[in-house]
Amino acid sequence: MKTLCLLGATGSIGQSTLKLVDQHPDRFRITALSAHTQVDALIDLCRRYRPMHACIADTNQFAALRDGLSAAGLSTTPLAGADSLEAMAADDSANTVVAAIVGAAGVASTLSAARAGKRILLANKESIVLAGQLLMETVAAHGAQLFPVDSEHNAIFQCLPSGGGRDGVRRLILTASGGPFLGKTRAELAAVTPEQACRHPKWSMGRKISVDSATLMNKGLEVIEAHHLFGMPAEAIEVVVHPQSIVHSMVDYRDGSVLAQMGEPDMRTAIAYGLSYPERIDTGVKALDFRTLAALAFQSPDGETFPCLGLAYRAIGRGGNAPAVLNAANEIAVMAFLEGRLPFLGIADIVGEVLETVHWEPAADLSVLMASDAEARRCAIQRIH
Ligand SMILES: NC(=O)c1ccc[n+]([C@@H]2O[C@H](COP(=O)([O-])OP(=O)(O)OC[C@H]3O[C@@H](n4cnc5c(N)ncnc54)[C@H](OP(=O)(O)O)[C@@H]3O)[C@@H](O)[C@H]2O)c1
Repeated sequence: MKTLCLLGATGSIGQSTLKLVDQHPDRFRITALSAHTQVDALIDLCRRYRPMHACIADTNQFAALRDGLSAAGLSTTPLAGADSLEAMAADDSANTVVAAIVGAAGVASTLSAARAGKRILLANKESIVLAGQLLMETVAAHGAQLFPVDSEHNAIFQCLPSGGGRDGVRRLILTASGGPFLGKTRAELAAVTPEQACRHPKWSMGRKISVDSATLMNKGLEVIEAHHLFGMPAEAIEVVVHPQSIVHSMVDYRDGSVLAQMGEPDMRTAIAYGLSYPERIDTGVKALDFRTLAALAFQSPDGETFPCLGLAYRAIGRGGNAPAVLNAANEIAVMAFLEGRLPFLGIADIVGEVLETVHWEPAADLSVLMASDAEARRCAIQRIH
C-alpha cells in the first residue's frame, strides 16, 4: 500500500492524482492533503479521503480549516503555513509525496520530502529549476527517489536505460505543443488576453503553466529541469515543436536509435507511472488509435516570437542563481499578465531585463537562492508598476 501526501491537492495535478487514487483504493491511501487558499475545497477532500493531516498554506484560513474539520466530525489534524507544509512532507504517515504545488512556493516542501528520504512524484518543476543541484544532491544524500511527473521528463525517464547510464545517449529531445499561439506573429500577440493564453489546444492545466506554455517559458523551464534531472548539458537538450502532443519526448542514442514515449495527452499516465513504478496500472486514459491518428508533425520553435525559451538557455549557461532569477521574474510577470497589468509580450521583456539586472551568485545554498528569488521578484514588480 502506498501512503500519499498530496501537496497541491486542489490543483489540476492534484485532481488527476485523486482520480487515480479513486480508481485504485487497494493500492493508494491518502494520508495528507494541502491547498493554498481554497479551504472549503480542502475540507471537502478531507471528507472524502479522511487523511491524518490537512494543511492550508494561507495561515489566515487556519480557523476556517479547523472549524470545518471539526464540524464534519473528522479527526484530521488541521495545519497551516509553509513550515507545516514542510513538516507534513517529511511526516512518517506517508511514504510517497506528490509535489504538485505551483511555483517557488513548492520548493521547501519538496526539499523536505527529499531530506526525509521519500519517494517523490515531482510535478512542481519550479523546485528543480530554482534549486536543481541542491535538490539532486539532497535526493542522493538521503536515499529519496525522484519520479518526474512533467510528461516530457516522464517520457525521457521511460526511454532511458533503467540502470540510469547515460553513456550511449546523444541527445534528449523535448517536444513542445507550441501552445495556443503557435504560428502567430509578434504583432498578432500584442493584445492577446489571459483567456486566450489559457486556452491550451491539447492539455488542461492550471493557469500559470498554461501561460508558460503560451510563451514557451514552460519549455525553457523544462530544459533546465531535464539538465538537472538527467545530468545532460544544455547543448544536448533540444526542443522540437510537435503540435499533436502524442510524442511526449524522445531520447536519441549514439547508435542512431531514437526511443519515444507516446500516448494521449493526459497527465494521469505520467502520474500513474510514478505512483506504481515499476508496475503499470490502469489509468482510464484511452488507448492511442494509430488508424485514426493524423500525421505527426515536428518543427523548430520560433525563438523570435517566443524569446522565453532562449532566456532559459541563457540562464542555464550562466548557472548559479540565474535559473532562480528567471523563474521568479517569470512568476511575477505571468501573475501581472493574468491580472491584466502586463501585456503578453511584456512577460519576456520583464524576464529578460530582470535576468540582466540581478547580481549573479553561485547557488551555494537555499538561502542564497531564496534571496535571489526575492530580489528578482522586487525587481520585476518595480518594472511592472
Ligand atoms: N497541470 C499540468 O498538466 C501540469 C503538467 C506538468 C507540470 N505541472 C506542474 O505541476 C505544478 C502544479 O500545476 P497545476 O497545473 O496543478 O497548478 P494549479 O492547478 O494552479 O494548482 C496549484 C496547487 O498549488 C496550491 N498552491 C498555489 N499557491 C500555493 C502556495 N503559495 N503555497 C502552497 N500551495 C499553493 C493550490 O492551492 P489553491 O487551489 O488553494 O490555490 C493548488 O492546490 C506546477 O509546478 C506545474 O508547472 C503541471
